[in-house]
Amino acid sequence: MRKPMMAGNWKMNKTVAEAKELAQAIQAQVATVEAVDRVLCPPFVCLPAVQDVLANSSIAVGAQNMHWAASGAYTGEVSGEMLQGLAQYVIIGHSERRQYFGETDESVNQKVKAALAHGLIPIVCVGESLEQNEGGQTAAVVTLQVQDALDGVSAEQVQTLVIAYEPIWAIGTGKAATPQQANATCGVVRGVVAHMFDDAVAQATRVLYGGSTNDKNIADIMQQPEIDGALIGGAALKAESYCAMVQTTAQLYA
Ligand code: 13P
Repeated sequence: MRKPMMAGNWKMNKTVAEAKELAQAIQAQVATVEAVDRVLCPPFVCLPAVQDVLANSSIAVGAQNMHWAASGAYTGEVSGEMLQGLAQYVIIGHSERRQYFGETDESVNQKVKAALAHGLIPIVCVGESLEQNEGGQTAAVVTLQVQDALDGVSAEQVQTLVIAYEPIWAIGTGKAATPQQANATCGVVRGVVAHMFDDAVAQATRVLYGGSTNDKNIADIMQQPEIDGALIGGAALKAESYCAMVQTTAQLYA
């Protein structure tokens, strides 16, 4: 049985003071909901403050990106080594990074391997564009992205990481994939893992859905067998909606 996960990607939102406040509000409501893995991913500069708030709780912290090198002349970048002690998870290859910052399947793969080497759990993002979706290419696109992201990763490591299927057309649009669509593509992701490794590894690997999830649609999404959780954007910026999603998921899995 895979443990469900509600991961909040705060993107480029919240000052340090606001991040602290949001983490405190979330901590007050869902600190003890152990049936669901809760992960908060604030901007880099907010990591110490959020980590501090959550220090004695089972709510985990994640970064939104990292560089693949441990250190060096990479102005403006943050390494896996620097994240140790500040984050347990790291989002890798979000479509916004692929779209606006030139990330490729190759750099995503380098980052996944670097994260694992530094003891961080990658939340690897994949997902197709609207054009690819309408062209019937969803399964093919996602298959390639997963294959490239996991190239050279061991079977033991794959079971620890998290894959998030986020169709680009559903992100921030208010137009989530239908639960059936999301389930089908999360199933494709799991099928790729089974093909690259084996069925037992695929059954142990968590696959999240992301894209316009909220406290209204999360129950239908979480009832899908291939979906193990959500990577939440907008709805994770308010304690009320994020915590409601955690509580709904906990009730479904009770
Ligand atoms: P929204 O939930 O705002 O659509 O964002 C999804 C996302 O990109 C999470 O990484």
